[in-house]
Amino acid sequence: MNYLIKPLTQGFGAEIFNFEMAEGLNENLTQELIETWNKAGGLIVVHNLNLSSKQHISLSKHFGPLFGDPKEDPLQDTVSRYIHPDHPEIYRVSNQVSKDGIPRGRKGAGTYWHSDVSFRERPAQASLLHAKTIPPVGGDTIFADQAAAYDALSDGMKDLLAPLFAWHDFEVAARTQYSKPVVVENDMNGANCARHPLIRTKPETGRKSLFVNPGFTSHIDGLDANESKAILDFLYQHSTQPQFLYRHRWAEKDLLIWDNRSLMHFAVMDYPDNEPRYMERCTVIGERPV
Ligand SMILES: [Fe+2]
Repeated sequence: MNYLIKPLTQGFGAEIFNFEMAEGLNENLTQELIETWNKAGGLIVVHNLNLSSKQHISLSKHFGPLFGDPKEDPLQDTVSRYIHPDHPEIYRVSNQVSKDGIPRGRKGAGTYWHSDVSFRERPAQASLLHAKTIPPVGGDTIFADQAAAYDALSDGMKDLLAPLFAWHDFEVAARTQYSKPVVVENDMNGANCARHPLIRTKPETGRKSLFVNPGFTSHIDGLDANESKAILDFLYQHSTQPQFLYRHRWAEKDLLIWDNRSLMHFAVMDYPDNEPRYMERCTVIGERPV
């Protein structure tokens, strides 16, 4: 197939043009896509892809098991109202509301630096987000390469961080990012809280990444609150410098596939309510970070 791959930045990301998926899924093509994704540091933008929800799910399953699959764990209860009514594997992001006041998806999802579902024992690996309807301008998503951010640290800092673990807790986002009535209290009973190494290694490539994020990380295990805050603040400032970033301006039918193990992302919410936005996301369950 004659599709075209172009790099998005010097460091990470690739965009793919003229990618066509035949009826059903071609195994070779899917494997090529995953290889390209790994080579591009875990971020690809596939343009102009007309995927049905079913095709989206079936492509996503090539990356691994999905949150919401009947045999797997769902996402946290707080977002269950945003799950697609016919497809439990699909989480919907939207600013649209039906006539009876039911949101079509989560509005303002991820408007802070985070790595999807990092508060679970097995956090998200790939997220596959497909744009169905987007505003003419605005609603960009920014990605920060946490492998490059790790590489850029001094050897002394790498040694300091290597033995450390941090706690990731949905409660951090529930407190700051969700309105109180929306949060399901059950999500705070420990099932959405996990301890992960500060530095994790991607098994497929052996590459190390920083793995903390302001959205969900509560503190570094075993340190004083002030010590923990000083290190985390430094890492957040360090890892979101412009040389580690790619800002995606969405086009309809874009499919973005990012690796939450080595990238943080930030959804910019700068578009008005009267400009409809609707996206569908499948989220792959990853391995326990090591
Ligand atoms: Fe996200």
